[in-house]
Amino acid sequence: MDTELICLDDYERQALSTLDTRYGDFFAAGADDEQTLQDNRADFKKLRFRPRMMRNVADVSLSTTILGNLISLPVGIAPTSRHKLVHHLGEEATARAAKSMGTCFCLSTYATTKAAEVAGLSGDATQWFQLYIFKDVQMAQRQIQKAKKHGFKAVVVTVDLPVVGNRRKVNGTRKANSAIDGFELPPHLRHEIIEELLGRDNSVTSKPCSHLTWKDLAMIVSASPLPVIAKGILTEEDAEQAIKAGCSAVYVSNHGGRQLDGVYSSISALPEVVKAVGGRVEVYMDGGIRTGTDVLKALALGARAVFIGRPAIYGLAVGGEKGVRRVITILRDELKLAMQLSGITDVNDIPRSLVQHESLIPRL
Ligand SMILES: Cc1cc2nc3c(=O)[nH]c(=O)nc-3n(C[C@H](O)[C@H](O)[C@H](O)COP(=O)(O)O)c2cc1C
Repeated sequence: MDTELICLDDYERQALSTLDTRYGDFFAAGADDEQTLQDNRADFKKLRFRPRMMRNVADVSLSTTILGNLISLPVGIAPTSRHKLVHHLGEEATARAAKSMGTCFCLSTYATTKAAEVAGLSGDATQWFQLYIFKDVQMAQRQIQKAKKHGFKAVVVTVDLPVVGNRRKVNGTRKANSAIDGFELPPHLRHEIIEELLGRDNSVTSKPCSHLTWKDLAMIVSASPLPVIAKGILTEEDAEQAIKAGCSAVYVSNHGGRQLDGVYSSISALPEVVKAVGGRVEVYMDGGIRTGTDVLKALALGARAVFIGRPAIYGLAVGGEKGVRRVITILRDELKLAMQLSGITDVNDIPRSLVQHESLIPRL
C-alpha cells in the first residue's frame, strides 16, 4: 500500500481521499481565505540553494540536540489535536513512531489520549507537552507539575490562540466565526487532557483564555520545573518578550495558517526572529514543511529543528504508527540527500549562505 507513497504530498492526497470529509476538512483547514496556509508552502519555493561541490559528503550526520536532549534528526512532531479521529490508536501510535525514529513528539492539550498513556512509553524519548492556558496561571502551573511527573521534558506554551481563528468549515458545514473551536468530537472520543483538567463538562471552560499577557507567561516560567518554549512567535518584538519572560526557546509558527490569515509565512518570519534572538536561546519552526529541502532551508536560516503538523496526521491516517514512521523516514532521507548535494555533512553546521531569496538572484 504505502510503498507507492513516495513523498509527503502523496500521504496528504491518500489521507484526504479516504478520511470522512468532516475530519479531512478539520485537519486541512486554514483560516479565512487560507492565504497564510498557502504562503507557508509557497514561500519555501522562493528560496534557492547555493550549493558547494567537492566537499566529501560520504558521511552525513543528522543528529542534534534540542534543549540538551539528543534527537536523531532535526524534525519533530508538532502538537496537533484529536489523533483518534484518524486512527483508533491516536496519539499513542504517533508517539511510538516518533520514539522509534529517535525524535521528539509534542502532545497537544487537545489530545484524545491520556497524557499518562503517551508518557508511559517515552523511555529516553524526547517528549514535550503543549499547554493552552484555559483559566488561570495556577491551573497552568498545576498542569506543568503533572507533565513533569509524567516525564515530559519541556512545556510548549502556545501563545497565538487568544481566540480561535476563523476556519470556515466545521463539522462538515460552513460557519461564520464563533471565536470558539466549535468542533464536535464523535461520542466515543474524549478530550482526555481537558477532561482531566476541567472535568467532563468542558464545553464552556475550554474556551481559550483571552486575557493573558507576557506577565502571566513570566509567572508560569518562574514557577516551572520544566523548560518553557513559547510557540507562535512571528516577530522580533515577541521573540524579545519571550526571552524576557524566561523562556528557554522560541518556536516560530503561525499555527499552520489557522489563526490570523495574512500573517507572514513561518519561513519568512524565521530570519527576523533568529536575528533578534541572536543565539541566546534555541529557535524552532513549523509550518509548510513537506520536503527534505524545506527542512534544509529552515535550518540554513537558523532553526535548530523543525516540526511537522499535518504530515504526521496524514501518515497516521494512512498507516497508523507505521505511516508516521514512513513520513519521518521520507523527510530524513530527503534531508540527507539534499545535504549531500549541497556539500553539507552536519545539520549543526549549515551556513546561512546556503540559501538565497529568489528576488536577490541576478536575472539576465
Ligand atoms: C488539525 C490541527 C490541530 C492543531 N492543534 C494544535 C494544538 O492543539 N496545539 C498547538 O499548539 N498547535 C496546534 N496546531 C498547530 C500545529 O502545532 C503546527 O503549528 C502546524 O500544524 C504546523 O503546520 P503544518 O501543518 O503545515 O506542518 C494544530 C494544527 C492542525 C493542522
